Amino acid sequence: MREKAAVIGMGYVGIPLACLLAKSGVKVTGIDIDRKRVELINKGEYPLKGDEPNLPEMLNEVVNTGLLRASTDFECCEDAQAIFICVDTPIDDKKKPIMNRLISAVDKVGSNLCKDSLIVVESTVAPGTMRNKVLPLLEKNSGMKAGKEFYLAHCPERVMSGKLIFNLVNLDRVLGGLDEKSTDIAKKWYEPIMKGNIHTTDMTTAEVVKTSENTYRDVQIAFANEVALICEKLGIDAFEVRKLVNTSPFRDMHLPGAGVGGHCLPKDPWLLVHGGKDADPQLIPTARKVNDRMPEHVAELVLKAMEEAKLDKRKDITIAILGYSFLENSGDSRNSPAKIVIDRLHKKYNIAVHDPFAEEDGKVEIVRNLDKVLRNADCAVFLTRHKEYLNLKLEDIAKSMKNKIIIDGRNIFDKKKAERLGFIYKGIGKG
Ligand SMILES: NC(=O)c1ccc[n+]([C@@H]2O[C@H](COP(=O)([O-])OP(=O)(O)OC[C@H]3O[C@@H](n4cnc5c(N)ncnc54)[C@H](O)[C@@H]3O)[C@@H](O)[C@H]2O)c1
Repeated sequence: MREKAAVIGMGYVGIPLACLLAKSGVKVTGIDIDRKRVELINKGEYPLKGDEPNLPEMLNEVVNTGLLRASTDFECCEDAQAIFICVDTPIDDKKKPIMNRLISAVDKVGSNLCKDSLIVVESTVAPGTMRNKVLPLLEKNSGMKAGKEFYLAHCPERVMSGKLIFNLVNLDRVLGGLDEKSTDIAKKWYEPIMKGNIHTTDMTTAEVVKTSENTYRDVQIAFANEVALICEKLGIDAFEVRKLVNTSPFRDMHLPGAGVGGHCLPKDPWLLVHGGKDADPQLIPTARKVNDRMPEHVAELVLKAMEEAKLDKRKDITIAILGYSFLENSGDSRNSPAKIVIDRLHKKYNIAVHDPFAEEDGKVEIVRNLDKVLRNADCAVFLTRHKEYLNLKLEDIAKSMKNKIIIDGRNIFDKKKAERLGFIYKGIGKG
């Protein structure tokens, strides 16, 4: 039966899943502890910011047709045939998983479980979490036996901001079931909402696949960043190096940049390390360190440029931070490099932050008017490849800024051209 479902955690992962399930005819309740989010969804309003093709319209449609409603109450799990857990799974200052949100959700699901239902954890979790934490807690709270009286699977997400619906519908997914029956039941829930293939496996393999996917990317970016730092010292262009490296077969060097942000990449490698700690991983923590250093390096480039411009002793200097979100054309500013750069510079300089999408988070004022921010800036620090920045012309910026200083964290401008126009230009990987 595929009639009623609950989706727990109405964020970047839960909302598109809930909408697609509802659109396929399932009656869905989206559960969240955030009352404001629940109220907005029930009004048919998409509660997250950013350019998200098709999703706000789809949410409005399924709420209006009565197929999706949101609630803070877990009681609806009692008659849901499938429950999808999509809560956030962050790490703490010591890089250990913060489990309370997942455990609290599993705890309540277990206490409100009906016989024969399927529970799927979509959240990214440290390897071993499904078997050692989720499974025993569900069995304890429900008093039922997994694989016999209820079914369990881990089906991690591959969505990203800006492509939530597209990725969910089109990308292949890995589905790890507790047993064959759990896998089969879960597959039947996903098949009607996606075009990609479903690759089935066991739960622990699915956990390692997901955390490895993001760790692989993080390590690759760290490599590109390390090469970029070497190129800066050697006075050459890392982007030219990358282009030429990739002319060699089986090479796929990534892009260097001002840092890695978002909810996933900075923490999923630590989830993998945590789950695999008995193997004493070395490379993954080192790669994390390299990537964490990049926003610090951007701040160092700003200080260097200010010294060169002999502005370092002045008190009335304004640094424009262009891009507060971590990802281009998205409003998602979780763990964004901008936050580190601002933290390192705000005691010495005035900071003005521009972003076309990012929400106010109570920490900085975000200005939407780019011209205004550039007009009042002595130094422009580009941290995100937003469309709006790619359309800028160096000639116009040169006329508008108070002092002509650019720090390019995303390879947006041509160094030689900037220097011809009289800019002090420094960029990641631009020696
Ligand atoms: N955002 C992405 O692009 C992405 C991609 C792949 C995987 N993931 C993974 O998916 C999971 C969710 O990520 P997200 O970006 O959607 O997070 P999010 O912060 O956008 O949404 C999580 C939601 O869960 C709610 N929540 C937290 N604890 C809860 C509880 N106990 N009960 C009910 N609701 C609760 C929060 O209020 C929030 O609305 C994470 O494990 C993440 O690593 C995210």
